[in-house]
Amino acid sequence: MTSPFAALVQILLPVVPRPVVARVARRYIAGETRDDALSLAARLRAEGYLTTLDMLGEDVSGWDDVLEATRAYAGLIEAVAASDVPRHVSLKPTHFGLKLDPDRAAGTLADLLAVARRRDVEITIDMEDASTTDATLALWPRVRLTWPRVGLVLQARLHRTEADAGVLAAEGATVRLCKGIYKEPASIAWTGRQAIRDAFVRAARALLAGSGSVQFATHDAVLVDRLRSLVAEAGAGPGRVEFQALLGVPVRSLLEDLRAEGWPVRLYVPYGRDWYAYSLRRLRENPDMASAITLSLLRRDRIGTGT
Ligand code: FDA
Repeated sequence: MTSPFAALVQILLPVVPRPVVARVARRYIAGETRDDALSLAARLRAEGYLTTLDMLGEDVSGWDDVLEATRAYAGLIEAVAASDVPRHVSLKPTHFGLKLDPDRAAGTLADLLAVARRRDVEITIDMEDASTTDATLALWPRVRLTWPRVGLVLQARLHRTEADAGVLAAEGATVRLCKGIYKEPASIAWTGRQAIRDAFVRAARALLAGSGSVQFATHDAVLVDRLRSLVAEAGAGPGRVEFQALLGVPVRSLLEDLRAEGWPVRLYVPYGRDWYAYSLRRLRENPDMASAITLSLLRRDRIGTGT
């Protein structure tokens, strides 16, 4: 249950000064540069975690931005392949012009996936708000022709997801299943906490009935317990199933337990200068966000400049 104070801070979040958001959201982001992300991924690897690197950016306004994103991502793929961090990268389709022209975005992404194929780097296509679901699902079979090791994300909160999971499971797709961060209307999405958990379990069951890799991206310990039972029932092992979490979400002991049980655990490591939209989404999910923002506002004389 959200307190009235926390609800008020949620509403006011867009007018909170950027340096305050930056300060509170710092834990969720590796830094501004590719090297920041690579060195963090190397440290996490030494601790036994897999990673996927994400260059922040989305919803571009023109093809110059797409070109810039494509060059930067090609550089990231090359750098990941040249280092000893896990060969895994995530990206957002609207960063590549999905909302401008889905056909052209598919062509651009296919070019990028040709780089990924050459360098043997696995790619996951993130899922954004529901206005992009159809276009993102349509993108996947096209770019998969270029590089089969491209997976995509499904959001359990959407009513359609159980059916989408069935279709992708039959295709042997690699799917990351999450609850979905974008608040969608009740006409197309489950809205209650328990209803979303139940929908997650149904979609997970549909995915496990197929043959592709299944990645559970959640920090919800109650849900993880249900997934453990489901995976055991399905007889799926660590070769096929992994658990994933976002950098900075304080669930270390849950992840350590999963690792101790033998599950691969991958952390999503974002970086870049375009940190604002991602940071707001993370703060909205942080149960301690209201007090963290308030404390940070009270200490604003000590906030640095820049970000
Ligand atoms: P829930 O929101 O119920 O959180 C469970 C517990 O985790 C909370 O009680 C809280 O304590 C803690 N917690 C969660 N977020 C926190 C935060 N920011 N700070 C502090 N504590 C926090 N979504 C999407 O729509 N498209 C996508 O492509 C992806 N990709 C993706 C990749 C990976 C690897 C992960 C882990 C998640 C995503 N997501 C995503 C985000 C996902 O949909 C979801 O919004 C978050 O993971 C939070 O939901 P939980 O399952 O953790 O449950």
